[in-house]
Amino acid sequence: MSIAIAPAIEPGASCSLENYLVLPDRTMDGRIAAARLELGSRAVILGHHYQRDEVIKFADFRGDSYKLSQEAARTKADYIVFCGVHFMAESADVLAHAGQQVVLPDLNAGCSMADMAEIGQVESCWEQLVSLGLTEEQGRGITPLTYMNSTAAIKAFVGERGGMVCTSSNAGSAFKWAFQRNEKILFLPDQHLGRNTAFSLGIPLEECVVWDPFLLQGGATPERLRSARVILWKGHCSVHQRFLPEHVDKVRERHPGIQVIVHPECRFEVCQKADGIGSTEGLIKLIAGAPAGSKFAVGTEIHLVNRMGKEFAKENKMVITLDDSGCLCTTMFRISPQHLCWALENLVDGNVVNRIRVPEGIKHWSRVALDRMLEIA
Ligand code: 13P
Ligand code: SF4
Repeated sequence: MSIAIAPAIEPGASCSLENYLVLPDRTMDGRIAAARLELGSRAVILGHHYQRDEVIKFADFRGDSYKLSQEAARTKADYIVFCGVHFMAESADVLAHAGQQVVLPDLNAGCSMADMAEIGQVESCWEQLVSLGLTEEQGRGITPLTYMNSTAAIKAFVGERGGMVCTSSNAGSAFKWAFQRNEKILFLPDQHLGRNTAFSLGIPLEECVVWDPFLLQGGATPERLRSARVILWKGHCSVHQRFLPEHVDKVRERHPGIQVIVHPECRFEVCQKADGIGSTEGLIKLIAGAPAGSKFAVGTEIHLVNRMGKEFAKENKMVITLDDSGCLCTTMFRISPQHLCWALENLVDGNVVNRIRVPEGIKHWSRVALDRMLEIA
């Protein structure tokens, strides 16, 4: 798609965000393109697949969390503009080289799942596991793993205790890696990804126990915790948890021959019924590799599903959402063209707005945990 380049940006045109938020979308394309051109190789724009079309079209690289973390570690650009959510930008900052700066166009773009594990709660959980004699210090062994969708402090916590980060595209490899080191895994913060991954590796559901951070001893008995191989933090993604097994049955009734593919943040019962499971990048690849005439119902965020619907229609493939309403990730949606334009024009003017900086004290161990993930892949 061609994008009209706007006239040069007037000096001082960038400034407060409020001035941008009132501007109509149609005026943004030319300005974003002009700022992008002016920044040249000094900036790279990374875009997660859940971003809106008006934003993702400006991404130099689009991908799932894993692919974007690889790009963040690889780029030589001075500015990494992350069109995604906070934990992704934090990870980019941890992986960045000295002198590189990471910008998140809207600081309110968080992740409700990442917010479900707070570092104080995780430390308290670990202390309770220690006091039950379940951790390495007492010769038993739990390897903590955290999903990428967590704060840098939690990544550092697991790194310091011999664990690593994983994403939805490499959780299976991370589990195998962890079981080579210890007999148990503490998996943070997505119970569904943890359960789906454990089960896919042959661990029965009875050997997984949920840890509820709001209950004493996670709400589990010491015996349950002792016999479990996987301790699942009680977190979830509100976008993916909305998909239900009934949606799978209904869509199959309505569209005979349709394949149901879902993100592994969906509930166990939904994943069990599905024909395929994958990260956002993995879901795209599944459809790309299917023959013309294939039909897919996809259990993931609606912007990605709609985009795939449009793009794969050209190859005579049908792509629809698994439920009728289609779930939106409201925090991914916060990155608007206006926010992107504001961030880029400020960079052109030499102002780094919305910089994401992980405190030095937690950078080291979170880097260790992220590097372990990049190494096993
Ligand atoms: P992916 O790594 O599959 O892109 O997932 C990120 C995410 O937040 C899904 O909800
Ligand atoms: Fe977080 Fe869910 Fe949004 Fe992914 S889709 S960023 S897990 S809230």
